[in-house]
Amino acid sequence: MTGLFITFEGGDGAGKSTQAELLGAWLGERGHEVVRTREPGGTRLGAEVRQLLLHGGEAIGDVDPRAEALLYAADRAQHVAKVVRPALERGAIVVQDRYIDSSLAYQGAGRVLDLAEVRGISEWAAGGLWPDLTVLLDLDPDAAAARRRTRGGAADRLEAEAAEFHAAVRGGFLALAQEDPDRYLVLDAAQPADALNAAILARVAPLIRS
Ligand code: TYD
Repeated sequence: MTGLFITFEGGDGAGKSTQAELLGAWLGERGHEVVRTREPGGTRLGAEVRQLLLHGGEAIGDVDPRAEALLYAADRAQHVAKVVRPALERGAIVVQDRYIDSSLAYQGAGRVLDLAEVRGISEWAAGGLWPDLTVLLDLDPDAAAARRRTRGGAADRLEAEAAEFHAAVRGGFLALAQEDPDRYLVLDAAQPADALNAAILARVAPLIRS
């Protein structure tokens, strides 16, 4: 595969989308084909799964953690097969909000499912595809919640989880980054957006050809 696969991870409200947009625009200006996408919801099937997972409300009742893990994995399987792999095969740079690490942090550390099992399901769904680089925007859950309130709108099903859940998710991400420092760039997301952008570009520049 000739392309480059870059993912953004972090808690809800850490600024992933903003940074992914800035990186995508910078790469585009340099003449690269950029595919900006996200999980869950990067395909038509995925959009339906996303709607169920985040906004299913009363209609879906209490969701069992294993069912939740499988729905994210189903979204991932479709997305990798239909969007990510074809893009990488034609040499594009995929800049994506969330991937396998979100399943490990949210369903593994957050929901306390067995990490190796969640990893196994996700790897199977993704056909073993891992990112070349994962940017972790690390933010204190209280600061992230305050940002979400400023942003407005109703909290989705996962955002509405208790503070302990978000603390466990944060710890999960940091542990993953520590295990695999070559793949991860960990940044303090309390920094201003332009400082974060500069740090990300410095890490990505050597990975691209022109
Ligand atoms: P997202 O749009 O990424 O949220 P935000 O923009 O607020 O960061 O919403 C996706 C939600 O789904 C988010 O709460 C994290 C969660 N999620 C998982 O629990 N497991 C996964 O594998 C993925 C991809 C996301």
